[in-house]
Amino acid sequence: MFDRRTVGVLILAAGKGTRMKSNLPKVLQPVLEEPLLFYPLQAALAAGLENRAVVIGHGGDAVQTYISAMSPEVRVIWQHDQLGTGHAVQISKEWWNSFSDILVIPGDAPLLKSEILIDLVKAHIDSPASCTFASFITETPAGYGRVVRDSNALSIVEEKDASEEQKKIREVNSGIYIFRTPDLLSNIDSLANDNVQGEYYLPDVVGLMYEQGKSVEALCFDNGTDFQGVNSPLQLAEATSILKQRILNHWMSQGVKCADPSSVFIGPRVRLEGDIWLDPFVQLYGNTEIGDGTHIGSHSLVRNTVIGKSVDIINFVSIIASEIEDHATIGPFSFIRDNAHIGEGAFVGKFVEIKKSSIGSGSKVPHLSYIGDATIGNHVNIGAGTITCNYDGVAKNPTHIGDRCFVGSDTMLVAPVSLGDDSFTAAGSVITDDVPEGALAIARARQKNIEGWVLRRKGSNQEGGKE
Ligand code: UD1
Ligand code: CA
Repeated sequence: MFDRRTVGVLILAAGKGTRMKSNLPKVLQPVLEEPLLFYPLQAALAAGLENRAVVIGHGGDAVQTYISAMSPEVRVIWQHDQLGTGHAVQISKEWWNSFSDILVIPGDAPLLKSEILIDLVKAHIDSPASCTFASFITETPAGYGRVVRDSNALSIVEEKDASEEQKKIREVNSGIYIFRTPDLLSNIDSLANDNVQGEYYLPDVVGLMYEQGKSVEALCFDNGTDFQGVNSPLQLAEATSILKQRILNHWMSQGVKCADPSSVFIGPRVRLEGDIWLDPFVQLYGNTEIGDGTHIGSHSLVRNTVIGKSVDIINFVSIIASEIEDHATIGPFSFIRDNAHIGEGAFVGKFVEIKKSSIGSGSKVPHLSYIGDATIGNHVNIGAGTITCNYDGVAKNPTHIGDRCFVGSDTMLVAPVSLGDDSFTAAGSVITDDVPEGALAIARARQKNIEGWVLRRKGSNQEGGKE
């Protein structure tokens, strides 16, 4: 893609993130339910840069667990003592010295777009520069390193080390750089930490290279939004709101409709087909996919779920890690979770929880039921109040219900238990034994009517006293 030069991407994510005031490492703080670190990893990949490594340290075990689960091909490098961004690059040179160029990006800049990385890498590869870095102009430069340019100098000065004059500079360092490997290698061990924070600053490499007469380029962008770092809870919320709007704009341009985009949240891994309607206060997260013609009603949450075409999610529905087939109807007030599978045209209704169960096509669980660890066949009717008693206090047990069964209202299915095809249970039954195909099971006390009982009781009360 980029000439014949190979580019490695090093993401710096070892810092403590003190300003977050949280036990969760900063790069795992969520934006639309994905950790901050997801975004630079994804931006690099979308730019065609597959050789990626992440420097981890603070809270590193959790960060490593995330990387192994989500992107096992990404190299993890430990920085046990976080002595600065320059130190982070120093200790990872064994990894990057095999590439012709090395792109360094911060782990806490979730708004970074792949287009910017492509522009930066291209500008660098097409020039003789030893280093090309991205800077931007901002009216609020506080917290960023300032780009100091004069006739015979180019360097980056950190806010804490800057003079009052330098603090007024509005061109700041984005923290994104690409270096020619041999030039970085010959400078990375020369960094000093004689600054206010006592850290080894990566941006100091820029000044060192410039002093050696090497070519250093700053690619200056007008709009700083894409580079915005996240250091505090306020910045986390700001990044979330910008990303959320970007993602919504994208999906609306593809045909998705929402009456109130400001209250709809869609995560970056969600995939939507064109003609989908999202009501106010809908949240779609994780690895979720939704088909054409589907409607998601207000106050519904869908996470890591595949929903087919023309599905109607009425409202107040939560669906987690499950699959809903075409033309199904769900809600209002349903909770579907843990690998539940709702078949084509099936109906799950009011105050129903479905856990780790499959509901066959055309089957109905309309009201007030708990269905757990069950397989339910096609065209089954589950009466109101039916419950699978799947847990005996020790283990979870399965329930099997065949095709075309009619389960009467308020049936307790004490698992493990199995209902054959076309069987029927009487309302209020407690089913503890398997029901054969085509049979009716009645498991309840027979009703007894005691004639005249009420009148007799009234009579005896009157005899007993006047109060
Ligand atoms: C850094 C730059 C600053 C720039 C800004 C852009 C330095 C010294 N300053 O400041 O010029 O304007 O980014 O956002 O680089 N990290 C490590 N190991 C460490 C220290 C930090 O991996 O020892 C990681 C952090 O986890 C973070 C990134 O490096 O993801 C940047 O560190 P941070 O402390 O946020 O630097 P800034 O103060 O934002
Ligand atoms: Ca930062």
